[in-house]
Formats: sequence, C-alpha cells, structure tokens
Amino acid sequence: MSAPPDTVEVDAGLDNDSTYGDEISKYTASLTSTVLETRKENGRTYHGYPYYMPNDENEKERLDMMHELMLTMMDRKLFLSPISSSPHRVLDLGTGTGVWAMDFADQYPSAEVIGIDLSPIQPNFVPPNVKFVIDDFDDTWVEKDFDFIHGRYLAGSSKDFAKLFRECYKNTAPGGWVEFQEWDTDLFSQDGSTDGSSIKQYYELLNGEFAKIGRIINTGPRLEGWIRDAGYKNVQVKKYLVPMGAWPKDKHLKTLGAWNMIEAESGFEAGVMAVLTRHAGWSKEEVDILVAKTRSDAKNPAVHTLFNFYVVYGQKQED
Ligand SMILES: C[S@@+](CC[C@H](N)C(=O)[O-])C[C@H]1O[C@@H](n2cnc3c(N)ncnc32)[C@H](O)[C@@H]1O
Repeated sequence: MSAPPDTVEVDAGLDNDSTYGDEISKYTASLTSTVLETRKENGRTYHGYPYYMPNDENEKERLDMMHELMLTMMDRKLFLSPISSSPHRVLDLGTGTGVWAMDFADQYPSAEVIGIDLSPIQPNFVPPNVKFVIDDFDDTWVEKDFDFIHGRYLAGSSKDFAKLFRECYKNTAPGGWVEFQEWDTDLFSQDGSTDGSSIKQYYELLNGEFAKIGRIINTGPRLEGWIRDAGYKNVQVKKYLVPMGAWPKDKHLKTLGAWNMIEAESGFEAGVMAVLTRHAGWSKEEVDILVAKTRSDAKNPAVHTLFNFYVVYGQKQED
C-alpha cells in the first residue's frame, strides 16, 4: 500500500459542533482515535479511517440526492422486508446523513432507531426515537437483538462483508430481518453504446482498483450469497434497473436516470479520487480528466448506460 500523497493534512477530533460526545463508541467494543481524525486531500475532506469517499458538505448533498433516487426507484418504500408493524430495535449501518434512519423513525414511532457511522455528518435535530453513534461496524458489536438491521450503499465500506453479515446474524433477534440495498457496479447497455466509452473505463477502474486493496465495491450481486451464508432464511432478491442519464423513453426510467446523472455530477469524482491517487499512482489532474470524460458520457443521450440495483432481505428463524 503506497503512502498517501503529501497534500494530506490530518486534523484530530470531530470537526462539527454536534453533540456526539456521549454517543461515541457505545455500539462496538472499541473505537480507535483514527476514526475521529479527518484529512483534507485534493480539495475534499475525508475521515482518517481508510474509507475512500469524502465526508464534506458536497458529499452530504450527494447522499441526500441518492436517497431521493432510491425512494423514486422503490416507489417511495424505505425497505421491502415484511417486518412487523411495530418494530422496536432497528439499526442502520453506515447511516451517512441519517436520512433513511430519520424517515424510518418518523414512519415507525414504536421503533428506537440507531444509526451508526464513522463520520459525524448527521443533523443535531432529529426525531426523538433516533440516536446516532459514531463507530466502526467492522469492530465487535456490543448491542444485540435488533428486530431489523438495514444497510444501504455500503460498497467498499467493510473490510470483510461475510464477517459483517455473520455479526448482523448474531445480533438479529429471532424472527427479525436484515435488508441490504446495493449497486451492481458492472454497467451495461442493450445496444453496445457503452463499448469503449470512458464511463465503462471508469467503472472497470473503480471495481479493479478497490479489489486490489481488498475492498469490494460491486456488492449488489454478492448480497444474496452473504445473507444466506450468514444463516438467514426466507431470503428474497429484488433487482431494479437504473439508467444513467435522462435518455430513456419510459417516464419512470427517465426520472431515475436524471437523478442518477445529477448525483453522479459530484459522485464520479468522489468515487475514485482517493483510491486512484492514494494507491494507483494517479495525479489529481489525471483523475480530473477521467471524471470529465465520464461526466460527458453520462450526459450524452447516445450513450445508454444501465445498472442493476439489488435489494436483498432475509429472516433469522425463531429459536
Ligand atoms: C456511501 S455512504 C451511504 C450512506 C447511507 N447508508 C445512505 O444510503 O444514504 C456510506 C457510509 O458508510 C460509512 N462507513 C463506511 N465504512 C464504515 C464502517 N466501517 N463503519 C461505519 N460506517 C462506515 C461512511 O462514513 C458513509 O457515511
């Protein structure tokens, strides 16, 4: 693993004014100080832990746009699992801006929702039944017996997804559910229009470079295997089609494609800048050129990029 570029500055401590003091590391057995560091790199802010997406305002806005894209895709449903109408203990892994957790808490006042994340990027004013905890879900968990464990868009986030699902299983209450929602980052087109394109090259690099550092980005197609292997039963898989760009004739797909293009405006850079400059020897300027060409393909109505998005859920059997 190569050393990070010298544009890095590391600041100790949390860099916002939120009230996380009491809520740090109650969730897993330990929390190293690395998790609480932030670093500035190539004009973006990241946290110190080896996670490769930024955590600045720009990224928070993008995550909220992605939330809207996913709600549009899933007909405004937050999840598909047939959970009880009055769940109690609910966990949102890698909660990001906490938008899913807060929407869930509003819809289910019976639930106590815990959102955990490495970054303190959640708002201070939240529904009374939501709590955010700053922690690393790859550590050993201390909280148990969740009725519902949810994870969305956690590509590249775990060092070992199979282990993470085993940890989920141990901490799911009998009869409870796990649900993950993830992209398939192998894009395709039905007419060959992505062949030889920059957007195709972008996703090949993304998948390949993360694989080289032991991080799986293409999580969607692997979810079913991980969930079954962890021991869950009644596993169901739903696959959605999501275009990039507003080129489809179908109105629903056109809306999805437009949202995808808007979030990807900053998402293309966010996805590869850190991995390519830290580990693959690329300069910021080289990444900028790749990102500009990829954006141009995303906006080109003649390039018909498609992705699959997976929602997979399963149940822990009653004892
Ligand atoms: C792409 S974002 C998705 C956020 C949210 N799930 C959503 O759908 O809006 C991934 C989030 O996972 C968090 N994350 C990454 N690795 C993590 C880890 N090991 N433990 C806890 N959170 C992690 C990141 O800080 C980031 O906020």
